[in-house]
Amino acid sequence: MAYQRSPGTQDILPASVERWQFVEGKAREVCRRFNFREIRTPIFEATELFQRGVGETTDIVEKEMYTFTDRGERSITLRPEGTAGAVRAFVENKLYGEPDLTKLYYIGPMFRYERQQAGRYRQFHQFGIEALGATDPALDAEVIALGYTFYTEVGLKGVRVELNSVGTPAVRAAFKEKLLAYLNPIREELCKDCKSRIDRNPLRVLDCKVDQHRFTDAPSILDSLDEECSVHFEKVKMYLTDIGVPYTINPRLVRGLDYYTHTAFEYKAEGIGAIDTIGGGGRYNGLVADIGGPDQPGVGLGLGLERTIMLLEHQAAPLANPHAVDIYLIALGEEADREVTKLTYHLRMNGIIAERDYQGRKMKAQMKSADRMQVRYTAILGDDELARGEITLKDMAGGGQRLIKLDELARELKAQLDR
Ligand code: HAM
Repeated sequence: MAYQRSPGTQDILPASVERWQFVEGKAREVCRRFNFREIRTPIFEATELFQRGVGETTDIVEKEMYTFTDRGERSITLRPEGTAGAVRAFVENKLYGEPDLTKLYYIGPMFRYERQQAGRYRQFHQFGIEALGATDPALDAEVIALGYTFYTEVGLKGVRVELNSVGTPAVRAAFKEKLLAYLNPIREELCKDCKSRIDRNPLRVLDCKVDQHRFTDAPSILDSLDEECSVHFEKVKMYLTDIGVPYTINPRLVRGLDYYTHTAFEYKAEGIGAIDTIGGGGRYNGLVADIGGPDQPGVGLGLGLERTIMLLEHQAAPLANPHAVDIYLIALGEEADREVTKLTYHLRMNGIIAERDYQGRKMKAQMKSADRMQVRYTAILGDDELARGEITLKDMAGGGQRLIKLDELARELKAQLDR
């Protein structure tokens, strides 16, 4: 029996790889402008890093990690997200010793054992950024703006930013009390997920899609913020308004990871089945210390690339065909064939995207290939022309054709393509 890919994984075939490259290229380019620099950390880490970093009671750690024991009896986990590894690298490599902020980005695969559905995979890809070393709310706004800029510049329409403050651990502990006083009396009416979450992570109950309508008069964490949290939140909003990034406040927004303090946000858009969150992030002032580093604050985001690309396709965003071929060379005759081999290589060495036939097909079939490749030019070389040192160049857009000296083809094509 033929093998099949594992559930929740995908083959990204050449026809969509170009869109991936475009999206990844945009991510890099936007990061460059915001002065974030790339970091590449391992795909697997010690399991404990995620237990401590992401949080023991999160869905990710409780039921979604790909964990195994390696041959050295260590517990290893395929990274379910990028922040813990980036922060570990920040600490281990003492990047905090540098005088300036550490602004990092990464693009790569993450692994979560989740139920498969449209937009939810077991191997997926994130573009993430992490800014470490400052509590300035202008940095929160910059991170949110970077994600927004990325979505706008890849061409996505209708992306919304939802913003909340989840306070400090002390603020959350006090809010939990209030929330439990509200939830406990209605506990029996809630869905199975909510019931199991009430005791472990009551804030996440408010996030439940099924029971949303029951929480209309639930207490809001924004009423529980202390002075420092409120001031921070107000400033994040002020900066976002100043730089022109639209947002709405969602006091129910809680993220699925435990490390957040103060700012929490998500990017939302319609178009991928039941899922509307395409990215998210927030501030995490305790995480660096939690995993054994100095007391350094951080803020970052993670954007799902599958979801970005699915939405782009859903919105039928146009993409210039980046795999169009400049010229297709056709040989008629044995001598000509030898010359075309040489000529194709020569053109490629001169920066021209050139292709030819390798299957000994008739001229008509070769012309069809050229059409499929959306070539700008075809060049036809017969033994007669070869004897005269010439080749027929056909402009596929304009339709005209003319004879060109063989040794002038590269220069002539470059001049035409530059225009
Ligand atoms: P997250 O919300 O768990 O945050 O994931 C961020 C994004 O990754 C999601 O919004 C979604 O687009 C994508 N994603 C997550 N799980 C899947 C899946 N199973 N299939 C497809 N896409 C998925 C984080 O991971 C944090 N590390 C973000 C962050 C960075 N916060 C601070 N810094």
